[in-house]
Amino acid sequence: MRTQVAIIGAGPAGLLLSHLLHLNGIDSVVLESRSKAEIESTIRAGVLEQGTMDILNDSGVGARMRAEGALHHGFELAFGGRRHRIDLHGLTGKAITVYAQHEVIKDLVAARVAAGGQLFFDVGHVAVSGADTDKPAVTFVRDGQPARIDADFVVGCDGFHGVSRPGMPQQGRADHQRVYPFGWFGILVEAPPSSPELIYARHERGFALVSTRSPAVQRLYFQCDPRDSVDNWSDDRIWAELHARLENHDGWRVQEGKIFQKNIIGMRSFVSTPMQSGRLFLAGDAAHIVPPTGAKGMNLAVSDVRLLAQGLEAFYKQGRPERLERYTEDALKRVWRAEYFSWWMTSMLHTFGDASSFQREVQRAELENVVSSRALATALAENYVGAF
Ligand code: FAD
Ligand code: PHB
Repeated sequence: MRTQVAIIGAGPAGLLLSHLLHLNGIDSVVLESRSKAEIESTIRAGVLEQGTMDILNDSGVGARMRAEGALHHGFELAFGGRRHRIDLHGLTGKAITVYAQHEVIKDLVAARVAAGGQLFFDVGHVAVSGADTDKPAVTFVRDGQPARIDADFVVGCDGFHGVSRPGMPQQGRADHQRVYPFGWFGILVEAPPSSPELIYARHERGFALVSTRSPAVQRLYFQCDPRDSVDNWSDDRIWAELHARLENHDGWRVQEGKIFQKNIIGMRSFVSTPMQSGRLFLAGDAAHIVPPTGAKGMNLAVSDVRLLAQGLEAFYKQGRPERLERYTEDALKRVWRAEYFSWWMTSMLHTFGDASSFQREVQRAELENVVSSRALATALAENYVGAF
């Protein structure tokens, strides 16, 4: 079969790209190795920047996000026994929405299906060929049968472990990476919110984060050894750790409830360049990873595909390839600022096992600076809401 743009991966990047292209009259096919049920239930990100909300709203897939997502105008930084509010809206005029990534996925899949879009789930052996020609193709196996899509362009939106990035010509590629010596233990809990806003906490025992999913489900994280196993953590041990890291003397307590999901995620910063080779492009986690402390991963995936959709529109409607040719340069500007911010938040809030007492005190002084200087708090807030 033939299409204009073959898209590998039905995460936020691949699905949104397919949706935006459709709105511009450009055909695409999305190939996904997992099932629809699986992609619609995998628990991942939760924070949408204003720009991400805007693009979902403007492209007609924001109704459920507006109804069910929670608009947050600030968050708290907790350290040294006290909590300090970062007034995102007061400092930047912008806000964020807490709305789970798999809900965004459901909304995008529903929009593609309603528009008769071609989404192939459960495909295997996906491979790209001819990326350096005008006639790239993707081969794969569907329902046990070999299949092939010929396209004008191929976009790899297949995440960090996908096939698109390793399938690019390796000459001239550079990977920039930092792996952190800790991970996050994440839980989902049946309980009312502990706090009206997110709390990012630095504690001598390690970082902890209070987030939310809905009035009845909460999302909590705490820094852990990335090689640890969820089996080592009974519910009682998890609550004891969260109480120890989050509570001060002001009487506030994190709300306990039934824990119904536990997972451990590793933390890395990673950028692979260039994000294009011939007619093969990379978007989202396929090209870059941030540690989740800055809540930037899904938002970067969205901003990559916004650029790509604009470039493809200019190519097809005006015959102008310049924006596509500039994709790496344009995307990397935002990617590196988000990499910086995510690294900064991670470095400021986590404990590093080998840190000297000097490093620990400087880390605390940095947090004091952020909450006592309007200029620094504004810089943090601008980065968090994505106002750049
Ligand atoms: P993915 O979501 O990884 O999608 C890639 C898709 O490609 C997958 O469905 C995969 O099955 C498919 N695929 C892979 N290989 C193949 C193949 N060979 N063939 C076909 N399909 C393939 N980001 C935020 O912005 N805010 C947050 O608050 C936040 N919190 C996070 C919390 C956690 C615990 C984690 C793990 C991540 C978090 N992130 C957050 C990051 C965010 O989830 C990712 O950045 C986002 O999913 C990237 O989207 P993507 O579409 O690029 O890739
Ligand atoms: C989440 O709710 O999953 C979440 C929130 C903020 C982050 C990371 C994850 O920084």
